Amino acid sequence: MKIDILTLFPSMFDGFIKESIIGRAIKDNKVTINIHNIRDYSKDPHHKVDDYGYGGGAGMVLMPQPIFDAIDDLKRSDTCIILMTPQGKKYSQKDAKTLVSKKHIIIICGHYEGFDERIRSLADIEYSIGDYVLTGGELPSMVITDSVVRLIDGVIENESREFESFEDNLLDYPVYTNPREYRGMKVPDVLLSGHHENIRKWRSEEQIKRTKERRPDLLDKED
Ligand code: ADE
Repeated sequence: MKIDILTLFPSMFDGFIKESIIGRAIKDNKVTINIHNIRDYSKDPHHKVDDYGYGGGAGMVLMPQPIFDAIDDLKRSDTCIILMTPQGKKYSQKDAKTLVSKKHIIIICGHYEGFDERIRSLADIEYSIGDYVLTGGELPSMVITDSVVRLIDGVIENESREFESFEDNLLDYPVYTNPREYRGMKVPDVLLSGHHENIRKWRSEEQIKRTKERRPDLLDKED
């Protein structure tokens, strides 16, 4: 899989593509992630990328030219183009599972007060990562990339993916490590029992209990 990210702030991605599971997935050639500076595509002599909005209003608006040219340059016949915006579809684990089957993804990060409406016409899908407004699409694009890359075969252990939160619309069960007792809080006996069937049953019950307590909305979901 190849992911191209269009941003005005490429250095925000330095740590993200170097560290931890994403850094390792890149090293292992499970994914290629290219960070492109939108400014490099500007045809303006001063590499301008934004301008005042027609009709007035606060803030600068990202111009269409650099984005359209970047897409012309990077797009292939099998590309899925994603636009990050708080007005987009609310992103979920289900979307991550759909995206992991794509061969090539381009993510456009909006910034400042907004982007020229015509940029929307380029996107196959617009995503929001939640009902709050961030200063730009950089963090949201990292959220999407992270959630997709960890689903690529061989990036993390299959078992971690099978039993994680949001599988079957349930939250994950609680986990414990050493010590067996810490500040009066004990590891549940069943986990020390070595009885696999009882452990499986306990975990499944805990998942339902947790989901009822914390996210009852998930239990009503149909997908
Ligand atoms: N850009 C700014 N806020 C955003 C959000 N919540 N989701 C996606 N893109 C954004």
